[in-house]
Amino acid sequence: MQFESAARSGGGVAAAAAAVAAVDDAGARRPTVGVVLGSGLGAFGDTLARKVPYAEIPGMPQSTVQGHAGNLCLGDVEGVAVACLQGRVHLYEGHGPETVVFGVRLLAALGCRAVLLTNAAGGIAEGFAPGDLMLIVDHLNLTGTSPLLGPNDATVGPRFPDMSRAYDAALCERARVAARARGVALREGVYAGMLGPAYETPAEIRMLRTLGADAVGMSTVPEVLALRHAGVRVGAISCITNLAAGISKTPLDHAEVEATARRTRDAFVGLLGAWIVGVGAEVAP
Ligand code: HPA
Repeated sequence: MQFESAARSGGGVAAAAAAVAAVDDAGARRPTVGVVLGSGLGAFGDTLARKVPYAEIPGMPQSTVQGHAGNLCLGDVEGVAVACLQGRVHLYEGHGPETVVFGVRLLAALGCRAVLLTNAAGGIAEGFAPGDLMLIVDHLNLTGTSPLLGPNDATVGPRFPDMSRAYDAALCERARVAARARGVALREGVYAGMLGPAYETPAEIRMLRTLGADAVGMSTVPEVLALRHAGVRVGAISCITNLAAGISKTPLDHAEVEATARRTRDAFVGLLGAWIVGVGAEVAP
């Protein structure tokens, strides 16, 4: 197996220095809370004051996926300084796992103490419906890879990071409180991270259900690994954009994923804003 350059390997936070400088040039306050916006969920980024196109950030990979803008958005949410990746890159685009996590390592390097990840996912659990929001309480890494492969930079984190509490209990509780306050129903479950880009077969979905998955998607897991390695607290919410293969009566397509994400936009943006305010209080120095 070919590893990406040793300079990047495990040392992504250090390698993000030039990227940090580019963000500082934008003149925004250093963030304490980071956010990653998934397929069709980018609208929240437009509520923030400043946008730095990924093309202006050295080393930042560009998403090729429809529905993923390429901007780092910076701003304030009720006094909480936020940095938000409006669009991410995925393993299935052909990027190595380290490239996929460049953006979240940049959020860590900027000073984010917590990062809230969002994604579009297929619903597997009984009773899930398109448009539901699901708090991720744990995951299955079925991508077959990890951004932590290769030499470890012990200044960033340990060789064998603990993943027994990957999704921060206090941040999960903040999400439940925010959802109640906004009157938004929030389901909970386990997210299975797949390589993609093909959607799963019905047999694979039966397998994932047996393994304990409630939802399935093609992102997030590498980001959680990189962030937990670096000691950053993580919370994550899936927008269930479709029922998974074999449960859905119709063939899956990306247009449906985007359309459902757009339909849930207002509930989602409201919940995210309230969650950020709670998380800002949680991680305040
Ligand atoms: N499978 C995998 N990834 C997804 C899905 C799905 O059904 N929906 C949105 N992302």
